[in-house]
Amino acid sequence: MAVTSLRRKLLLCAALGLLLVPGCHTVPQALPYAEAVRTPPEDVAGMRARTVTVEADHSVTSYRYPELGGAHPLTVRVRTLMARRQTDFLEDLPERGRPELHQDVSVLAASSQVVGVRLTAATEAGMSRDLTADTLWYDADSGEVLPWTALFRDDEAIERAHLALARVLRDGYNLPAQQLPGVVGEAARDQAALDEPAPSPSASPRGRPTQAPGRTEFSDPDRVREAAERWTDSPLRDAAFSTAGGLAVRMDPAQVPGAGMVREVMVPIEAADAEDLLSELGYRAREAALSGNDPGDDLVPDGDSDTPGHTLDCSQLKCVALTFDDGPGEHTDDLLDILAGYDAHATFYVLGSLVEEFPEPVERMAAEGHELGNHTWKHDDLARMPGNAIKKDIGRTNEAVRELTGTTPPTVRPPYGSLNGTVRRSVDQPLVLWDVDTLDWQSRDPEAISEHALTHTAPGSVVLFHDIHRTSVDAIPQVLAGLHRQGYHFVTVTDIFGGQGLEPGEVRTDARLT
Ligand code: NI
Repeated sequence: MAVTSLRRKLLLCAALGLLLVPGCHTVPQALPYAEAVRTPPEDVAGMRARTVTVEADHSVTSYRYPELGGAHPLTVRVRTLMARRQTDFLEDLPERGRPELHQDVSVLAASSQVVGVRLTAATEAGMSRDLTADTLWYDADSGEVLPWTALFRDDEAIERAHLALARVLRDGYNLPAQQLPGVVGEAARDQAALDEPAPSPSASPRGRPTQAPGRTEFSDPDRVREAAERWTDSPLRDAAFSTAGGLAVRMDPAQVPGAGMVREVMVPIEAADAEDLLSELGYRAREAALSGNDPGDDLVPDGDSDTPGHTLDCSQLKCVALTFDDGPGEHTDDLLDILAGYDAHATFYVLGSLVEEFPEPVERMAAEGHELGNHTWKHDDLARMPGNAIKKDIGRTNEAVRELTGTTPPTVRPPYGSLNGTVRRSVDQPLVLWDVDTLDWQSRDPEAISEHALTHTAPGSVVLFHDIHRTSVDAIPQVLAGLHRQGYHFVTVTDIFGGQGLEPGEVRTDARLT
């Protein structure tokens, strides 16, 4: 936006012959610029976006990620990257002030074949502001989520793109070769290469990359990822397609003197120059971007749009599963309000008999993304019951939850953690216990409860509370604030075990990473 308006101003100044007027004299000609195709996720048909914001005393964090239904690999990757960056930010918080981290996503290309997104992370601490940006590309053919290098055919194409940028900066922005930044400068320092005429775009027919002998194509995802490691400082990591059919490469204004007071400098690689550089995925992505990023119903595989899925990869993250047993009860609504402030998702091991008594909080749990687990009908010790009675009790409770929420509880927690072989054989769901017992039912002291949770939780922990006690609910604001500050993400039981899978009758206490 800023670049566009700068150009408008320059054109206006030039048209009016006002180049000597203050405000019009800084740059005597219109600078080369590119308008990037960047679409807000909500404006892409078939795509939804979700924003997670936590305003704590010590920090403000937010992130917005695209929801593509179920456990779409792009959704999982984007959300996991953002969650990890948030953890890094919170683990490294300064003692004073209230720094902010805001992560966002825009769509660069969207069709049934490819989805490209741009992730930004903006930090604000006192007077200092910082922005980093990356792009990710989902290839529907392979199901892989790839870094920016996937747009390019090979290493040579990336080098040529750097040379094209060097030309624009040298000729358009009058930047001397020795001032060209980073890898662009390195490419240009071979002055002979820079002075060669640009390769003829007609050398390859449109839409078909040429195959020169000795050229190593990025033939598989590993090569694409290795290339991103090699070119980690390239400005191409934040490139989009331009409305003119080429590439729009964002560069830091500090690196491009002469660009004026703009937020970002969008340096063009013209369509003719880009033509020869793109991979097959790159061509498909460009096609999507130039035809308006309107995938219609084709974005999400059939029948997948409403499937709940694990959208966070907890095998790579600081996750914790808070669990609340023996309810629902009269304090459950308050608890749901408190959890919402941290966008925390919890798991409620409910009693079937109480589900009938307190239907509203149960419906609210499901609607707000919490998970319902089965804690039997009225808290009988399953290990003292015969198999058929266990099946009947668990089945009846499953049915009560399903009737209200439409979903069968994915896991069972046996009362008292009491188990034997008959229980394991009689229950068709995984059995989930806990590794952190806050003893909240015993102490009835919010301070002691939160203190216990904050000192014993590790990444992958399953923490036990009972929401039928007022004192337990009163401990939760402290628990959430403390664990959030430590960088934890609050997920459901199935999210925390996500990638590891759980078998019927299997007993697990936690998903601790260490
Ligand atoms: Ni219990």
